[in-house]
Amino acid sequence: TDLSRIRNFSIIAHIDHGKSTLADRLIEYCGALEAREMKEQYLDNMDIERERGITIKAQTVRLSYKANDGETYQLNLMDTPGHVDFAYEVSRSLSACEGSLLVVDASQGVEAQTLANVYQAIDANHEIVPVLNKIDLPAADVPRVKQQIEDVIGLDASDAVEISAKTGLNIQGVLEAIVTRLPPPKGDIDAPLQALIVDSWYDPYLGVVILVRVVNGELRLGQKVRFMATGATRELDRVGIFTPKKVVTNRLGPGEMGFVTAAIKDIRDTKVGDTITEEKRLAPTALPGFKPSIPVVFCGLFPADAADFEHLRESLGKLALNDASFQFETESSAALGFGFRCGFLGLLHLEIIQERLEREFNLDLITTAPSVVYKMYMTNGDVIEMHNPADMPDVVKIDHIEEPWIKATIMLPDEYLGGVLALCTERRGIQKDLTYVGGRAMLVYELPLNEVVFDFYDRLKSISRGYASFDYQLEEYREGDLVKMSILVNAEPVDALSMIVHRSQAEYRGRQLCERLKDLIPRHLFKIPIQAAIGGKVVARETIAALRKDVLAKCYGGDISRKRKLLDKQKEGKKRMRQFGEVEIPQSAFIAALRMG
Ligand code: GTP
Repeated sequence: TDLSRIRNFSIIAHIDHGKSTLADRLIEYCGALEAREMKEQYLDNMDIERERGITIKAQTVRLSYKANDGETYQLNLMDTPGHVDFAYEVSRSLSACEGSLLVVDASQGVEAQTLANVYQAIDANHEIVPVLNKIDLPAADVPRVKQQIEDVIGLDASDAVEISAKTGLNIQGVLEAIVTRLPPPKGDIDAPLQALIVDSWYDPYLGVVILVRVVNGELRLGQKVRFMATGATRELDRVGIFTPKKVVTNRLGPGEMGFVTAAIKDIRDTKVGDTITEEKRLAPTALPGFKPSIPVVFCGLFPADAADFEHLRESLGKLALNDASFQFETESSAALGFGFRCGFLGLLHLEIIQERLEREFNLDLITTAPSVVYKMYMTNGDVIEMHNPADMPDVVKIDHIEEPWIKATIMLPDEYLGGVLALCTERRGIQKDLTYVGGRAMLVYELPLNEVVFDFYDRLKSISRGYASFDYQLEEYREGDLVKMSILVNAEPVDALSMIVHRSQAEYRGRQLCERLKDLIPRHLFKIPIQAAIGGKVVARETIAALRKDVLAKCYGGDISRKRKLLDKQKEGKKRMRQFGEVEIPQSAFIAALRMG
């Protein structure tokens, strides 16, 4: 295809502003899918995504559009995930396109993710067309939102396209804007092949499917190609596009997007960001790649029933087939038995994996509190990356500890500003900026990620009654006064409950955990002290009083079935008790104490 007839674009938006609905309309308008074939929101493949309305895997769809100028254009729509956890995936999808549609809900206005996505699109040198969606809603305020786009983002919004993705109003206006306002791709069909790996995933029938953007040269069926980063060579056994159905085309030229397969079994062999070139005519250089997606949040996943351990291992393996940024390794804990330490891009990523394990694989899981990756600088010069507070080395061997910091953007209605400022300060935040735009405040803060994984979203939501939007990006590692807080039950340290905290937060967190445990550990015949300690110093303490009389005493005279029930319950409980010195701690107490949030 003539390059001037190709447009590659993505749609960027804050969550729920209508990205998927617009994508559906564009596909429908271009007749790529018969309406009856079209399930709602075609781009979201997995059921779980459809239910949550979150797009995880980037995908592309090729559309054919006959424009007002009489020419037929090839439009490649690149879907991008909307959530911060998948920011890297957004940036790599964007780098495969020349332009973006910026969808803003005209009844809501600019939100934190609108901004974060727009900055990424600007970084990718995109031409950006603002699209105001949901103008069918009575609350839509087009002039206000246009002004906001100009003030906050600095984009000219005077010819923003006004649409309703829901009713289909002015979808053609969007298509015309794509054709007339976005630039065509550049590329040379005669140059040596350079195709960028944008994404890859495992398909049970086809093996690994690679999503590519051809920059120069041509991909052809049967071609022998080389992956420049790994040096591996393969023969292409399928070359095609998504319409969104898979359609084999046997070739892809410069500027085009599509997929290839080459009998590859493991997605880790296809490095996202790598360049594919031709074996017999190698490209002199690789294309600029992407930053890899690195897990920053770790937690333990344990089967509630120890017998499910192998099943959990297999299930994790299956999920990892399609998610190169998800990591896991075995872990054993005195409290929870055998399980896995898993690494995620963020909290949402964690939640999604956890939910898929429970739903698709029927597993009942115990998830421990998430923790970030700390860098331990040892006195002997070693640097250790610590994923699990239980692995904390001896303090005397540590010179200093660094923790990850983020830059957070929070947008919220003015009246909640005080509460949110207090929350950020409490979480060791450093205020960088505070501006007002159309009745909303935009806050920029630097925060330690450690303080954010710990119930920050929930607090922010409750303080702002759900009106604040939040987005962040990882900034850098910084030294912090971080200490290991141990929990002692009846003077015995319980490893599974230890955590890394900032010294200033230790007392607050310690108190919280001790209070929780006090209610969770049953009474014994003796008094049980519960303590939170740093080194040898106790920072919080609670005591469980001794049990006075037989549990059955209070049933005296009561009906027998009630008594039996109580005994059965105790027996059931016994099975799940873990012994710490003289104290038996029910597993349910660990679960409740360690459970996130
Ligand atoms: P994520 O996939 O979760 O990022 O959201 P999204 O941006 O793709 O939004 P989605 O298309 O799922 O739309 C969110 C909600 O807004 C859905 O309930 C849509 O039906 C609704 N919606 C989308 N466009 C319009 C519109 O033009 N008018 C109205 N009234 N509702 C719309």
